[in-house]
Amino acid sequence: MALDRKQTPNDLNAFWMPFTANRQFKKSPRMFVAAKDMHYTTADGRQVLDGTAGLWCCNAGHCRPKITEAIQKQAAELDYAPAFQMGHPSAFELANRIIDIAPKGIEHVFYTNSGSESVETALKLAIAYHRAKGQGTRTRLIGRERGYHGVNFGGISVGGIVNNRKFFGTLLAGVDHLPHTHLPDQNAFTRGQPEHGANLADDLERIVALHGPETIAAVIVEPMAGSTGVLMPPKGYLEKLRAITKKHGILLIFDEVITGFGRLGAPFAAQYYDVVPDMMTTAKGLTNGVIPMGAVLTSAEVHDAFMQGPEHMIELFHGYTYSGNPIASAAGIATLETYKEEGLFERAAELAPYWEDALHSLKGVRHVIDIRNSGLIGAVELEPIAGEPTKRAFAAFLAAYDKGILIRTTGDIIAMSPPLIISKAQIDELIGTLGDVLKALD
Ligand SMILES: Cc1ncc(COP(=O)(O)O)c(C=O)c1O
Repeated sequence: MALDRKQTPNDLNAFWMPFTANRQFKKSPRMFVAAKDMHYTTADGRQVLDGTAGLWCCNAGHCRPKITEAIQKQAAELDYAPAFQMGHPSAFELANRIIDIAPKGIEHVFYTNSGSESVETALKLAIAYHRAKGQGTRTRLIGRERGYHGVNFGGISVGGIVNNRKFFGTLLAGVDHLPHTHLPDQNAFTRGQPEHGANLADDLERIVALHGPETIAAVIVEPMAGSTGVLMPPKGYLEKLRAITKKHGILLIFDEVITGFGRLGAPFAAQYYDVVPDMMTTAKGLTNGVIPMGAVLTSAEVHDAFMQGPEHMIELFHGYTYSGNPIASAAGIATLETYKEEGLFERAAELAPYWEDALHSLKGVRHVIDIRNSGLIGAVELEPIAGEPTKRAFAAFLAAYDKGILIRTTGDIIAMSPPLIISKAQIDELIGTLGDVLKALD
């Protein structure tokens, strides 16, 4: 008998859920059983407006027919092809389409299966690139406080999240960090990029002087830090990082796992901020979140450094069983076609001022101590309950879900990043409901 997927399972014990308060969830489960466009359907038949594009990934909305059909067709035609020493057309076609929308100077695509793997790949590429160029002493990696670069060892080492440093041991050696750019005293309630903080990029000169430029391989930052609370780059900050890295022969990596594929109203943050790095890590919106896939985009300079030696030799000792998987590639092609046909990146740019006004209408509402936004991303920071950090925002998340909107919380910050198909009426509904939730919150 076919399993009724709408039925709530009667034993939730076996599945150890990721980044979840497991005990709380299993006492009071929140189950989605279907989705369409801007809405999820819960197991008890309610509609929930998706204020987060799943996990910042379903930029075209849910269950889009073109993407679904492409996956079905590819699965029936060529389910899997070996990723090493063999190819299939969809992976090449998708790479070309990604490069078509990438910033000028970015010319190659290396496939992974997630944002975390894209980060590991980019860090390894940076070290191997310098070695290929005869500068094998360049092995240090520089990240930033409050950076999130996924969950693998390289990513948590260059990332700047205290829990990773507390729980997972000594991490990678040879890593240093820039200061974060969150300056609420000076920048609270800024619309778009804050005025203050570009000088924090100058700290890179101090780090370079401390270690010696000949020891540093790369600097990795999120152009806009998403997961630690939606922190916009101060005006001039990314330009400074680009200039300092160039001056010292250090590669600049933008982690665009959230900002890639239209979130800011341009294909990538590199275009939105007009600063082009040497490599970009992507995932999420690449396949509309539907099938796991990531990609590292590199300059020709990075790629070409490896293309030497005997032609029968593998140039880069790296890759995944599922790199460029046919079904993921088909999903990626259909996703990029959907973005293009529906003009979703342009739509995000057009909606951004409306989104901004709606978000900032929450200024003055109970508990709100800061609001930040760019493109179709926004954050509302709450005053934490004394001695109980994260509790207030989590209560807001639960109340919002009960009232039919999906938001996301990180610390005491509420982050929102709706699918780019959201309507103005749905923006009003999302922000209006959030306002009601906050007013009723202890
Ligand atoms: C900037 C950034 N890098 C990396 C990741 C990790 O991606 P994944 O969860 O696909 O491994 C994320 C996920 O949110 C992210 O925001």
